[in-house]
Amino acid sequence: MSSTRAFRGSVVHCLDRPRGHDAAVQSFDDGILVVTDGRVDLLGPAENIMPQLGGDVDILQLDGKLIVPGFIDCHVHYPQMDIVASYGEQLLDWLDRYAYPAEERFSDEGHAKAVAERFVDALLANGTTSALVFATVHAHSAGALFEAARSKSMRLVTGKTLMDRGAPPALLDTADKAEIESRALIERWHGVDRLGYAITPRFVLTSSAQQLGRLGALAAEFPDVHVHTHLAENRAEIEAVAKRFPDHRSYLDVYDRFGLLRERAVFAHCIHLDDADRQAMSRAGAGIAFCPSSNLFLGSGLFELDRAEEAGVDVGLGSDVGAGPSLSALKTLGDAYRVGQLRHRPLDPFHGLYLATLGAARAIGLDDAIGSFRAGMEADFTVLDTDLETPSASRCRSLGSIGDRLFALQLLGDERNIHSTWLMGQPAYRRDNA
Ligand code: GUN
Ligand code: ZN
Repeated sequence: MSSTRAFRGSVVHCLDRPRGHDAAVQSFDDGILVVTDGRVDLLGPAENIMPQLGGDVDILQLDGKLIVPGFIDCHVHYPQMDIVASYGEQLLDWLDRYAYPAEERFSDEGHAKAVAERFVDALLANGTTSALVFATVHAHSAGALFEAARSKSMRLVTGKTLMDRGAPPALLDTADKAEIESRALIERWHGVDRLGYAITPRFVLTSSAQQLGRLGALAAEFPDVHVHTHLAENRAEIEAVAKRFPDHRSYLDVYDRFGLLRERAVFAHCIHLDDADRQAMSRAGAGIAFCPSSNLFLGSGLFELDRAEEAGVDVGLGSDVGAGPSLSALKTLGDAYRVGQLRHRPLDPFHGLYLATLGAARAIGLDDAIGSFRAGMEADFTVLDTDLETPSASRCRSLGSIGDRLFALQLLGDERNIHSTWLMGQPAYRRDNA
């Protein structure tokens, strides 16, 4: 017997990347989302959908609320969730001083399990239903997160971090061990329930040429496995890469020559690229994680979103916790807007929604399953509440259009605006007073 449930409120989602006000965005002030057996069945204005619903279908009334596809965080480090807002460094010093010591604590399996469970709960409390996540070098840290996500039926991709140089000895593996443990984790987890595996070299500075070569060969063996790494975030990082690989055209070219630039590869940051890099990424079908809060926090620079998208690269939003201070897609979008303003390219609220949903799904290569409310998609969604006793409430209450409400949420909202979060049509989180 199939099970159907309907959700009635304002609804908005993207069918494509919005370029001004066009057919890429579908929205209904009074809409109904119909979910059958965990997948989107129907979406439309309530007046059209109501007559099509059988009398026995349960309708959840979400008056005054906004239903959006679940947010997808396409770059985040779960082992760094407890070091957010650590003062005063740029990337390379911040790694040494804060990130690596936090990651060393994950040698303890019990610690990894406890943090993984807290992390998954925190994602859901922020309306985030999927993520592409860095674990630590310890294979059990990826396993702990897979278990935690599986227990919630969450679509999540992670992988053990691969480093064999340039980091504290306790966090290093070898080229051999990186390949052996990654392969075992792929075989154990990739495609199990809603889980996927990402081959995860940290960045060029922490992998030997031998390790990068082994990972490229592994990626070739598993074309539907993801690749996840960092690229061109910080000037000092880029200079160090150029010094180690003087014969390569660019930082990206190092990954490319080792076979790591390809479809389903997501590169975080990509602040200091040139057009040749962007073209190469577009040709390869790779994605970019735009992490504005992290880029502002570490003083890394202003990502050129327009240039990446015009070159045809899929871009999604990343919180990059712990360099980004918040898991909230709403807060991260507020920073995306500010970064756009500094470049005289303001981010319109539907484009912002796209980056946090369909854009992120495309960047990771999961847009056949999540990111929009097209019929047949997995029904992961988030219910946003603008009518709250928060400082933002008086502003939000006075707003009419869905675009205005979305924009206010992106500039003023946080986890208090998450009314509830749903995975495959089932409740996964509900705010205490909702
Ligand atoms: N580059 C290499 N490792 C990291 C990390 O943990 N965070 C950020 N923001 N950049 C990195
Ligand atoms: Zn990162």
